[in-house]
Amino acid sequence: MSRATLSDYLSRSNTPASLAQLIETLAGGSVAIREDLAGGALNDILGAAGAENVQGEEQKKLDVIANDRIKQALGVLPSVRGIASEEEDEVVAAHHDGEFLVTFDPLDGSSNIDINSMVGTIFSVLGSRGEGAVSEAEFLQPGRDQIAAGYILYGPSVMLVLTVGQGVVMFTYDPQSGLYLLTEDQVRIAEEAKEFAINMSNQRHWHPAMQRYIGELLQGAEGPRGKNYNMRWVAAMVADVHRILCRGGLFCYPWDARKPDQAGKLRLMYEANPMGLLVEQAGGKIWTPEGAILDIQPTHIHQRVPVILGAASEVELCIDYHRD
Ligand code: AHG
Ligand code: MN
Ligand code: MN
Repeated sequence: MSRATLSDYLSRSNTPASLAQLIETLAGGSVAIREDLAGGALNDILGAAGAENVQGEEQKKLDVIANDRIKQALGVLPSVRGIASEEEDEVVAAHHDGEFLVTFDPLDGSSNIDINSMVGTIFSVLGSRGEGAVSEAEFLQPGRDQIAAGYILYGPSVMLVLTVGQGVVMFTYDPQSGLYLLTEDQVRIAEEAKEFAINMSNQRHWHPAMQRYIGELLQGAEGPRGKNYNMRWVAAMVADVHRILCRGGLFCYPWDARKPDQAGKLRLMYEANPMGLLVEQAGGKIWTPEGAILDIQPTHIHQRVPVILGAASEVELCIDYHRD
């Protein structure tokens, strides 16, 4: 049986040629990052880069390498007006009359690089509304307005997970042909959750509603939920969300009392919104205690947001506890 390639899917889904080219360019960039990762220490990609990003996080060598690869690849496309990256202080201009803005997290799960564990690349495509020089203001669009979103998971196999607004599809990279081949059509998140993902070491800093919600899951069959849950934490949102798309569950990176004015760890425009579009397109939910994440009007490209995503009923229950 011959499988559809990424290009086959993009033409079959009537994705406009310029958007298809953009997505294929991101896929091409991921193949280069895959090569970087495959050699590990042999490619001198491990360890720190010796600088901090605008958010005060230590940059790893591969954060910088992956960022440069994607920036350069997108920069040659006439359709790209500008980019915003977790690893860039400001938005980066590309082509004045381009129709797309691209935001991305070049390397998600950076703390996993040096332990040879899973990492990913997350991307989001927005339409451009500006003229002249590109400005940050153009990027500040609610996640609902995304034209496409996806991620590449660098795991035992490399996968591209994509939505162009017609459900969620998964491709697996075939090293023999150098192509991404369609391996999962119409991804749906299971209705009922059996697993949850949260960094439990921060429990004492969470909002009381989150402590109650997770506390009840931990009580298992003897508690109010009447069943046992399992816990998983890869420390790369890409991998944790991928598991949820594949076999259901819940993922939270909640508000934390240590930094009350910095709402959560994850970034709205590089992580929460693209994952949010995928999750909603797969029948799940992504919320923050104040409302649906995809409806948030961003005020800053590097803005953070508490994230609760996964099976719709679990997300709703967790949000209800915050409303009580
Ligand atoms: P990044 O590597 O892009 O900074 O993102 C890491 C994020 C996210 O992917 C993951 O879920 C979370 O940080 C892990 O956080 P902990 O360090 O609390 O495990
Ligand atoms: Mn990240
Ligand atoms: Mn990152």
